[in-house]
Amino acid sequence: MSAGARISPAPPAKRATITLATLAEKKALGEPIAMVTAYDYPSAQVAEAAGVDVVLVGDSAAMTVLGYPSTVPVSVEEMLMLAAAARRGLTTPLLVGDLPFGSYEASDVDAVRTAQRFVKEAGCDAVKLERGGSSVERARAIVAAGIPVMGHVGLTPQTATALGGYRSQGRTAERAAEVVDDALALEAAGCFAIVLEAIPSDVTDVLMPRLSVPAIGIGAGPAADGQVLVFHDLLGIFDGHAARFVKRYAKVREAMVAGVAAFADDVRLRRYPEPEHGYTMAPDESARLRRLVADGEAVARPG
Ligand code: KIV
Repeated sequence: MSAGARISPAPPAKRATITLATLAEKKALGEPIAMVTAYDYPSAQVAEAAGVDVVLVGDSAAMTVLGYPSTVPVSVEEMLMLAAAARRGLTTPLLVGDLPFGSYEASDVDAVRTAQRFVKEAGCDAVKLERGGSSVERARAIVAAGIPVMGHVGLTPQTATALGGYRSQGRTAERAAEVVDDALALEAAGCFAIVLEAIPSDVTDVLMPRLSVPAIGIGAGPAADGQVLVFHDLLGIFDGHAARFVKRYAKVREAMVAGVAAFADDVRLRRYPEPEHGYTMAPDESARLRRLVADGEAVARPG
């Protein structure tokens, strides 16, 4: 190699698209799965650049981006719009769309129709639904229609009222056994992965040796095959109450408020815009414009 020759840095390795098989393989190899929520084009692009494995367009969007008091009011149309935007920001991670409350519970027909819309209209790779019980049959029907399903047990926010509020689940042996049974029933119905939300680590420890599909925890301890957090929680964008399991990795809201406040100050103090933020006109055109306006002549406009 001649003196002064430079070795150019290797281009970043292109990541392979994440599939259901990739997730199963990660579980088999004991490689943790990283999942995050995203609800629009920029948050999806962030998830893509950060290299996560799975992106969930969670119905937590109801609260984090749409300002509803719970996940219950969000509609299929609202979720589809958010999921389609997230799709446009993603190439690599598996994209899962959350079926909103009231869109799948009443019948297998409803469940399959709604799931098909998430795949067809929003480009999701898979859908997620909540609870055991009747949701097990809905999951089976959607899987039979050729759409991969992720289950969700433990604290299921869509039915939080029936569970006594937003509180951890499975703290008695009986309730914990129900959570374990729900997860196993969803697996038997064909779910490719199960979210475990807000349950004691002991319950996850009991479940893990019995479950053969990946378990993704959120407040379920370290034994799960992967972990998920809500985008706005982990980045500190959402200002509301945070659950015990939330870890803040950034203070993005503070940075956003500071940025917008600095802009408003600059505007009020006439410090913005500065010359470099404006457009210029050739001096002769500027002089001609002034003459035209002064003479009261019509300025020629195209069309
Ligand atoms: O809606 C959501 O964000 C979720 C995750 C918390 C798993 O269901």
